[in-house]
This record gives sequence, structure tokens and C-alpha cells, in this order.
Amino acid sequence: MAFDVEKVRAEFPILGRQVHDKPLVYLDSAASAQKPRAVIQAMTGAMEGSYANVHRGLHTLANETTEAYEKARKSIADFIRAETNEVVFVKGGTEAINLVAAGLSHSLKAGDEIVLTEMAHHANIVPWHFLRERQGVVLKFVPVLEDGSLDLDAYRALLGPKTKVVALTHMSNVLGTVNPVAGMIADAHAVGAITLLDGCQAIVHQPVDVKALDVDFYVFSGHKLYGPTGIGALYGKAERLAALPPYQGGGEMIGTVTLDAITYADPPHRFEAGTPAILEAIGLGAAIDWLSGLDREAIAAHEHRLYERVRAGLNGANWLRVIGEAPGKGAILSFTVDGAHAHDVAQILDRYGVAVRAGTHCAEPLMRRFGVTSSARASFALYNTEAEADAFVEALTRTQAFFA
Ligand SMILES: Cc1ncc(COP(=O)(O)O)c(C=O)c1O
Repeated sequence: MAFDVEKVRAEFPILGRQVHDKPLVYLDSAASAQKPRAVIQAMTGAMEGSYANVHRGLHTLANETTEAYEKARKSIADFIRAETNEVVFVKGGTEAINLVAAGLSHSLKAGDEIVLTEMAHHANIVPWHFLRERQGVVLKFVPVLEDGSLDLDAYRALLGPKTKVVALTHMSNVLGTVNPVAGMIADAHAVGAITLLDGCQAIVHQPVDVKALDVDFYVFSGHKLYGPTGIGALYGKAERLAALPPYQGGGEMIGTVTLDAITYADPPHRFEAGTPAILEAIGLGAAIDWLSGLDREAIAAHEHRLYERVRAGLNGANWLRVIGEAPGKGAILSFTVDGAHAHDVAQILDRYGVAVRAGTHCAEPLMRRFGVTSSARASFALYNTEAEADAFVEALTRTQAFFA
């Protein structure tokens, strides 16, 4: 299957707009991706055609909506090669990690160790800090090397009998580094630790097979995967989910409720208290079905070409510092411009129609590791073009001239 970027772009209505009288060049997809018509239509179609609450009705619309909601779960399960009952709908990657941390907290005690990485997003740091603050578990961090890869020797040295959980970043949202997670998971299992992968970035750019990875928990957000906000997925091995206490209580997550006792529903519904994000789940299912119809290898190659084109275009720019150049990295360029704050760089780029992220990227320990308080970040998606890559290089070169 050849990859036709213009055909793909035509599916994203927003990409036709202008910013400051310039064509929009959207290079902030790692923060949140734009939405194809398939998603927009699936959500409006549900609202216009068949909508009701799920799992509790006996009427036609309730049944149809429940079917659409559960079909989305099946799409997600197929996408990551899981069983349907191993996929929990959550608000996003952040809620998924909080759910797992809260559930595991019941079986952890003071002195137990949790291994994280210095490149983690705050979503995969802060929920574990709760366990450090509240029950005295010890957090250990795998250091990041100068090129942006993980120090694997240090990782293996951190593992031991006290390691109970290993929660890793699959792909860094700042560095673009794709970690060798299969081997790292095997190492963690060898000491009896439970493993979690934060796949918020990786799943957008590469196929994920949770069974081949043998990971215990895998999390991701819908909105970075061309789906809506407010929805994401938690994968958990069936036996892990079965052993995890519920995260929130309420309707739909119970077996029976009496005045003096409760029993819980089986996973995944045990973890979906209350009315879920029904339309958003349907939208995420549509995003995944749409993406699954494209050649994902060709997409990855396309995104990589864009990254290489920008990198070559900026080659020799002695005012530029690129943060993260690990071999095999994904299409994310984090950088600083000498003498300029990243926020100013982003604001000037915006005047040229170019949207990039700037700040700490919710990864303050990583910023500290590289001795910066912030960076700018251009991230490439399947709808970006070579012309946009060139427009970014030109706009950045002009932006730098303001500070020279
Ligand atoms: C690597 C990574 N993990 C976790 C998150 C948190 O995702 P969300 O805000 O959608 O919950 C992000 C979002 O930027 C991310 O890039």
C-alpha cells in the first residue's frame, strides 16, 4: 500500500485553515493530533443517529449505543492484539497510570521499590510519588545518556528482589527515543516485578503487540492517536486486572450492592464506574479503524523522512541545540535556540503559521538532566508534508535572526 500524504490530508478538515494569514503548519501532534473526518462523523453520527446511555437500557437506542461502545473496545483490543476483556476505557494515559498505581498500592509496603525512567512524562512519575509519600515505597530512576537513550546497564543494576513495579516510557515525548522495552520487560519479570508501559507516543507511530511484549499493563491516550479527547485505554493482562482492586466506585462496576456489602463486576467493567465517555469511545474506535486501514510502516517511513529533512535543513546551524538523538528515534525534534527562550521561539514561529510546543513538556526531571528549563518541540504526524518541513526550517531560521 503506497502512502499518499495529500489524500490523507484531505481527511483532516482543520488542515485547510490559515494562521496569521499563513497556511497552518501543525507540528504539535505529540501534544494532541488533529482529527480525521472518520472520527468527526462517527461522533456526530452517533449523536444524530443513535445515542443513549450504555449497558443499562432495554430499548433500541440503548442497545445500539452499547453495541457501538463495545465494538470500539474490540477495535482497540485488535489494534494492540489483546483480548476484549483486557481493555479498560479510561480518560487517557494519565488516568490509566493513576488507576494502576492506586490498585497496586494495596499490595505494596514501605521499602518496596518502583523503577521509573528519568525521561518519563509526569503522568508516569507523579502517581508513583503518591505511593512514596503515602506509604514509603522507594522510587528509582533509570538515567538518560547524553544521546537521549536509557542507560541499560544502570537499569539492570537497579533491578533486584525489592523491585515490585517497573513503569517505563515506550517512546519519549521529548527526545523521541524509542526504548528497547521487550528486553527491559523480560529483565523486570526476571526479578518478579510487574511491568507497565506508557505508550502514549509509541502507539501513534508503530504497531504494538502487547502479547509479544509480554507487558502487564499498557496505557495510551486517544487524542494523540487522531481520536477525541477524554478517552484512552488501559490494557492489563486478564489475571492482572482480575487481581487489581477497583479504582472508583459507582454504577455499573458492581456485582451486587446491599446495605452492608458489595461485590464487583468482572474486568473491564469493574474499572468503569459511572457513565463512561461513550461518544469519545466511539470516536476512538473510529480513529483506530481508520488508521488500521493505512499502511503503518509507510506512515512511519514518511514521518521519519520529514524528521531527516528538517535535521538536514538545520545542519550546520550553530545556534541550535538538539536534545535527543538516540539511534532509531521517532519523529520528534526537541531543541533550544541560543539566546532565546523556547516560549519566544514558539510565539514567533506562530507568526509564520508554524505550531510547535514549548516548555517543560511535563518532563521536568528530563529538562534538568539536560540542564535546560525548557525546550521547543516540533513533532511530525502522518499528515505533515515535505513542504511543511521546509517551511518550518525557513521559519525557524528567520526566528533565530531575531535573537542573533
Ligand atoms: C509519553 C506521555 N505519557 C503520558 C502523557 C499524558 O497523556 P494524557 O495527558 O493524554 O493523559 C503524555 C502526553 O503528553 C505523553 O506524551
